Amino acid sequence: MLTVNVVTLFPEMFSASLATSILGRAAAQRLVRYRVVQLRDYTHDRHQTVDDYAYGGGAGMVLKPEPFFEAVDDLRVGPPIVLLSARGKRFAHEDAVRFAVGKELTLLCGHYKDVDQRVVDGLGAEELSLGDFVLSGGEPAALCVIDAVVRLLPGVLGDHESASGDSHYDGLLAPPSYTRPPSYRGLDVPAVLLSGDHEQIAAWRAREAERLTRERRPDLWMKYGDAPSEQ
Ligand SMILES: C[S@@+](CC[C@H](N)C(=O)[O-])C[C@H]1O[C@@H](n2cnc3c(N)ncnc32)[C@H](O)[C@@H]1O
Repeated sequence: MLTVNVVTLFPEMFSASLATSILGRAAAQRLVRYRVVQLRDYTHDRHQTVDDYAYGGGAGMVLKPEPFFEAVDDLRVGPPIVLLSARGKRFAHEDAVRFAVGKELTLLCGHYKDVDQRVVDGLGAEELSLGDFVLSGGEPAALCVIDAVVRLLPGVLGDHESASGDSHYDGLLAPPSYTRPPSYRGLDVPAVLLSGDHEQIAAWRAREAERLTRERRPDLWMKYGDAPSEQ
């Protein structure tokens, strides 16, 4: 069973999400367990202070190192420890796979202006970013990482919703999907999908996946072309 630890100032942001839909079902089936801890619980002063002014000046408060170190000590975890961070490496499918095959994943959520750099340096944490934009806190990013990882755990998705046909699974974007009705407001479902010819349908989907990847994500297309083909 995968254990996902989260250190956050806002545990309430996780309660509903981790209990709902696929993430909740995975926990109920004991395929994953979530331990969400409150950073303030690892302070020792009356005001439960987690932040302080930045050395060198400047606007905004910086999260102090001690509560993060104590939380990680208390959880007794080793790598991978991830600090969600706008200056991190971009989180990608390969990272989700790497975390999904592990036993434990620990996510540290920043907030306010920044997190003291010693958290990353001292805990050997990797910094991962969700994209080239800035969130107010690491919580939405942590939830995205958890969702991307948990849906890859064996047994979490049924055959009918398998991750293998999804974008990025095999390096390509997924082809478009259609459902009933066959025609709506002058927009028709591609005839091949109504043909019942499974070979033709598979060929159309493969062509569409390649076309979309080539047009929208030349970076992925190049990587896909470089990858050794399966025997
Ligand atoms: C307001 S942001 C701090 C941004 C920081 N001053 C910077 O310029 O990189 C507060 C917290 O939100 C989280 N965060 C912000 N943008 C993120 C992103 N793109 N990906 C992941 N986490 C992010 C981080 O945990 C960060 O410590």
